Amino acid sequence: MIWAVIPAAGRGTRFGGERPKQYLKIAGRPLIAHALDALLAHPRVAGAMVALAAGDPHWPGWHERLGKPVLTCAGGAERADSVLAALRALPAEAGEDTLVLVHDAARPNLRQPDLDRLIAAAEACEHGALLAAPVRDTLKRAYGEAGEARIAATEPRERLWRAFTPQAFRRGALTAALESALAEGVAVTDEAMAMERAGFSPALVEGREDNLKVTTPADLALMEFLLARDRD
Ligand code: CTP
Ligand code: MG
Repeated sequence: MIWAVIPAAGRGTRFGGERPKQYLKIAGRPLIAHALDALLAHPRVAGAMVALAAGDPHWPGWHERLGKPVLTCAGGAERADSVLAALRALPAEAGEDTLVLVHDAARPNLRQPDLDRLIAAAEACEHGALLAAPVRDTLKRAYGEAGEARIAATEPRERLWRAFTPQAFRRGALTAALESALAEGVAVTDEAMAMERAGFSPALVEGREDNLKVTTPADLALMEFLLARDRD
C-alpha cells in the first residue's frame, strides 16, 4: 500500500492573484485535482492526505476521487510543517514502512510512466527516491543583488540536478527526518533535503521535464499548453 501526501497550504505569493494557485483551473479542473488524480490513478496508491491552510475557503470538500479516499488536515507555516502534519494525520493502516509519495498541489502534469519508475526506484532503494532532471543551463554565480547582479563565476553543472516531486520515502523515516530538521530550525525546501540531513542518499530518478511546478502566471500559460496535448 502507498499513500499520497499533498502539501496544499501555500498562499502562492509569487503567483499573486486572489486565490492560491493550486485552485486555478486548467481544462475545467483546478491544478490540485490534476495533481491528486495523477497519484490516485496509480493502482498501488490507496488514498491521499491533503494539507490545507486553516479555514481554506477554496477547498472543494472532496472526500474521495477515483473511488479512493481523500483526507485533509491542517497544514503549517512552511512546506515542511505541512508535510509533517499530513504524515502524522495518515490513517493507522499506513504503518511506519508504508511508502508515501509527497507531491506539490501546484504540479499538475505528472505522468504515469514517471510514477511507475519512481515507485520502483523507491522500493529498490532504502533511502527513498525522487523525480528530478539534470541541469541543462549554464550556471552563473553572481555578486550583487538582482537588478545589479554581476557574474562572479561560472559553476560547473556536471552532476547537478533539479529536484521535482513526487518524492517517495517510508513514512516513519521521513517523519523522523522532518521532525529533526524542524526541531533544529533548519529550513528544508524539499523532503529529500530532510532525508539527506538524516544521513540518507535518496535516488535521483530522471523524469519528464514538463512535470513543472506552477509558480508564476507564465508557468500557468505553459501548463495550459502542456495539459492540452495528447496524454500518454
Ligand atoms: N505549501 C504548503 N504549506 C506551506 C507552503 C507551501 O503546503 N506552508 C505547498 C504549496 O501549497 C504547494 C507546494 O507546497 O503545493 C509547493 O510550494 P510553493 O510552490 O512554494 O507554493 P506557495 O508556497 O503557495 O507559493 P509561494 O512560495 O510563491 O508563496
Ligand atoms: Mg512557497
